[in-house]
Amino acid sequence: DISTDFFRRLPKAELHLHLEGSIRPETAFELAQKNGVALLKPGQDLADLYDYDDLAKFLNAYTAIAGVVLSADDFHRVTYEMLEDCAVSGARHVEFFISPHAHDVSFDVQFRGIRRGMAEARDALGISCFMAPGINRELGPEAAEVYFDTCAQLGGDDMAGVGLDYFEAPYPPDPFAPLYDRARAAGYQVTAHAGEGGPAAYVAGAMDALGCRRIDHGYAVMDDPALVARCREAQILFTCCPSTTKYTTHWRDLTDPDHPIRKMKEAGLNVTINSDDPPFFFTTLAQEYEIAYRDMGFTLADIKASILQGIQGSWLSQDQRVALA
Ligand code: HPA
Ligand code: ZN
Repeated sequence: DISTDFFRRLPKAELHLHLEGSIRPETAFELAQKNGVALLKPGQDLADLYDYDDLAKFLNAYTAIAGVVLSADDFHRVTYEMLEDCAVSGARHVEFFISPHAHDVSFDVQFRGIRRGMAEARDALGISCFMAPGINRELGPEAAEVYFDTCAQLGGDDMAGVGLDYFEAPYPPDPFAPLYDRARAAGYQVTAHAGEGGPAAYVAGAMDALGCRRIDHGYAVMDDPALVARCREAQILFTCCPSTTKYTTHWRDLTDPDHPIRKMKEAGLNVTINSDDPPFFFTTLAQEYEIAYRDMGFTLADIKASILQGIQGSWLSQDQRVALA
């Protein structure tokens, strides 16, 4: 049988990953102690924190962990460690979301640390990376405009795009259309979480209202055959995350023949494999590939195709994509 090491060695791009969701539990624990943040309630241990069975409860844990990262050095550390973990899983290129609004820390401090972490990872690990602020859709479109502008002022060349995340339904993508228009006009790439907790109409909305050609998760697309056909024609890229579905959706069994990631692949959609919030879902990027192969009906040819589609759908330049493929 094929070993985890095989999946680790495959050179690949990671396109759906959250900085705060990548913080190693031991680092979270250390930073909480150093910064005097009460991460655990009396009588709780770390395992109690990593215990959730829906998107809302997961986001509570994510927000609690985000709260331990305070100084620029802290942001530097968690960024570097995240990219180091990606490199161990065979990632050569990483595009990750950040949630600056989840911290009670000035954006200036956050970006300083994150950008230093990225620079160090490029030097020390030989990987390329971009970040994109994830817009917390719960904040609404007006707050999102200010938030995006603040990030754009601080992000420089490291900020390649913008994303939309957090609790999905009932927050449709459409109200964010003016912001996405502005972001695209300014040269930013765009993507959005859709069809994880929301309906197929939100996947269509991310395409039509926000101009996305890349969708994070997208599972509900399978509820709308006409939309499946449209996404196939348009070669929309779906950044899928197998283990996430066990905790944030009702697809708890990854071997289920009706699991949407399997169905999306069978329907001929462009599906890449990603890790989202690896320690929160007890996984790694390499392990997500192993799961796709072992549990979700991906052949080695499917694995190769999804890696190449991920590189092709990344925000690297054409020359860089050719070099990576
Ligand atoms: N969905 C929505 N928001 C998120 C996720 C997710 O899977 N991970 C981190 N923030
Ligand atoms: Zn995500």
